[in-house]
Amino acid sequence: MKIIKTADYNEMSKVAANIIAAQITLKPNSVLGLATGSSPIGTYKELISKYENGEIDFSDITTVNLDEYKGMPRTNEQSYYYFMNDNLFNHVNIDKDRTHVPNGMAEDAELECKEYEELVKSVGGVDLQLLGLGRNGHIGFNEPSEEFAKETHCVDLTESTIEANKRFFASAEDVPRQAFSMGIGTIMAAKKIVVVVSGADKAEAVKKAFTGPVTPNVPGSILQFHGDVTVVCDAEAYSELEK
Ligand code: F6R
Repeated sequence: MKIIKTADYNEMSKVAANIIAAQITLKPNSVLGLATGSSPIGTYKELISKYENGEIDFSDITTVNLDEYKGMPRTNEQSYYYFMNDNLFNHVNIDKDRTHVPNGMAEDAELECKEYEELVKSVGGVDLQLLGLGRNGHIGFNEPSEEFAKETHCVDLTESTIEANKRFFASAEDVPRQAFSMGIGTIMAAKKIVVVVSGADKAEAVKKAFTGPVTPNVPGSILQFHGDVTVVCDAEAYSELEK
């Protein structure tokens, strides 16, 4: 595992975007695993600039997103489907038919998870997975637990995650209580993983996940067992590693 300390959110975003751009250049038909949330927004902005400058081409790229709130229509601005279009897909030359986000409105949750897992496999697996890290150490919506969930599954969000995500909603009551998420096994099957982490409120999670014991109580800690992970932190998120 490589942990890179950058000065701030902007530099973190540039470093992460450079790694993703290199992936697209080396393999123009890459399958990118993507994340939502505050952490990757700057990375997506950098990728859009690179596209506008003619540095990268998304026309052969396929994407699979990590997760989606259960019961959230795609037209809702808080849906991860909406987020991806708004923050990346609408601004680059990607074929939208090759972009995939779990369907939060699927009537049969179990079937949706099974089909999403199959979809990830059917596109050939993920070449590069971009991740954020939750304050409680979650990756995707794999919350702290007694065991690592292997495949795409339906998750009950923890109070910590509801609290962290309420900033996007009118109140904590409006945050969905469940989500569909790729499993730890799905994430670990990616060939390459890039994690972007910023802010002092993530410093403890960075230390625990990347230098502490590997345990499902800190789901991101499993990444220590992956052969090709780059964690890109801003100075604040990195700070606990220097103590
Ligand atoms: C988002 C996701 C989550 C976030 C994490 C950090 O698709 O899967 O694991 O990456 O909650 O969120 P932010 O970046 O908003 O702090």
